[in-house]
Amino acid sequence: MPYRDMRDYLAVLEQQNCLRRITREVDRNWEIACLAKWMYQTLPVEERFGFYFQNVKGSKIPVVTGALGASPKGVALALQCDVHEINNKVADALRHPHKPKLAKSGVCQEVVLTGQQARLDSLPVVTWTPGKDKAPYITTIVVTRNYDTGAPNMGIYRTMVRDPHSVVINIRRGRQGFRNVMTWHDKGKTAPIAWVIATEPAVHLATVANLAYGKNEMDFAGGLKGEPIELVRCKTVDLHVPATAEFIIEGEIAPGEFDDEGPFGEFAGYMGPVGKRSVAKITAITHRKDPIFYGYTSQMPPSESTTIQSLMNAGVILQMMRDNIGDQAVHDVWIDLTFGGMLGHGIVAITPEFPGHGKRVGRTIADITSLKRITVVDVDVDIRDPSHVDWAMNARFSPQRDTVVIDDCHVSIETDPSLRDARGNQTPGSKLVLDATQKIDSGPFSLPPKEMMMKALEVWKECSLPEFKIPKRAQLRLEKS
Ligand SMILES: Cc1cc2nc3c(=O)[nH]c(=O)nc-3n(C[C@H](O)[C@H](O)[C@H](O)COP(=O)(O)O)c2cc1C
Repeated sequence: MPYRDMRDYLAVLEQQNCLRRITREVDRNWEIACLAKWMYQTLPVEERFGFYFQNVKGSKIPVVTGALGASPKGVALALQCDVHEINNKVADALRHPHKPKLAKSGVCQEVVLTGQQARLDSLPVVTWTPGKDKAPYITTIVVTRNYDTGAPNMGIYRTMVRDPHSVVINIRRGRQGFRNVMTWHDKGKTAPIAWVIATEPAVHLATVANLAYGKNEMDFAGGLKGEPIELVRCKTVDLHVPATAEFIIEGEIAPGEFDDEGPFGEFAGYMGPVGKRSVAKITAITHRKDPIFYGYTSQMPPSESTTIQSLMNAGVILQMMRDNIGDQAVHDVWIDLTFGGMLGHGIVAITPEFPGHGKRVGRTIADITSLKRITVVDVDVDIRDPSHVDWAMNARFSPQRDTVVIDDCHVSIETDPSLRDARGNQTPGSKLVLDATQKIDSGPFSLPPKEMMMKALEVWKECSLPEFKIPKRAQLRLEKS
């Protein structure tokens, strides 16, 4: 059964020991963020969990963070598949999307507050880098719509609470949400906007995938869920939002109204600068009875944002390479969890079919994504295991022969702090392709034959040596021994 809402998903996470309830009172101005930071900065990925803060100082509303993106296991549970099936689940959902269906009413509108009653200070919005961020930030799904075509878009654009009735949104040129807003502003019209807080996990995960402009993330979310997402019309703006969300915040962005946004702790690990960004006026807050509030943890990696963006976009790249580029030699893609989405290091497993194939795959991915570094390996390497990828880099990669540097790539310094010069100005970006596929047959592996190794496992047990699970790295090596 697909999850109906965030509550269904949280119950499964809790059963699987992937969500911890905190009953002690916590202060959303510093304690929530600091506890989440300790979790990500200390625990190995497989031990990470989401937080359910039941008792938030000054609020009756519980706060959840880190649930969707604690670890690949949390994402796999959200997609109702195993960790190793995430890429194929994403690729299949892109191939078989489901259009959403419109309902007359939804639980997200059980309580409707408009005008002066719609106050942001009634919500437990979290300060994510306490002591450094200018204000609390709403970190969730943002819905906009193209005025001319009517096509909606969902993205996550962090949103600074300015006062009880207005916010400043980090929605920048180049983003699809920004383009949508401009289609209204170009005609002198006010643009509608809505924030969706805590809905079906498929909708959250679909939102962070970098899809081509015009592709509806809601159709993709339906593909991930296996059935259409149910939507309702907002109360004060002409937008459709998931019917089972915990909260919907509705608003309008007037043309030409900007204010300072930031400083805010960025996903890359540094404080982001202050910039002029669009202001939105809040027109309504609707919610379920007894609602749950959700905010994504980002800032210093690894974090919830780096985890969900890396995992979702790896599947998007796999589908693009196989279906759109038509290269069936590409078998698997992994984006390391340290930088987020398409901006950091992608590792690709291929079966090379001709000399230079590894470089070609790497160059193509460099061209069609924002990844800064692409490492290409053979399918006998576990791309999710850094020690195995390092082995391939040492055993199969020769720097001069196998490196491609691509220069003059535009990347904003907000997303890549290494591109700032000493005066803080933008410098051109570049990309690196490392082809660590095997170029010649290097002969057999220096491991005893598989049968002998498996027999030796019995001896291992007889000697009462510590138990272990055979890592994929060893399995792959034994297959060829
Ligand atoms: C927690 C989190 C916060 C994010 N904040 C921003 C942001 O403030 N501005 C931005 O442009 N992208 C941000 N992103 C990335 C985008 O939401 C993401 O790349 C999305 O696919 C963009 O959608 P679009 O291509 O439809 O504009 C954030 C992602 C996450 C997971």
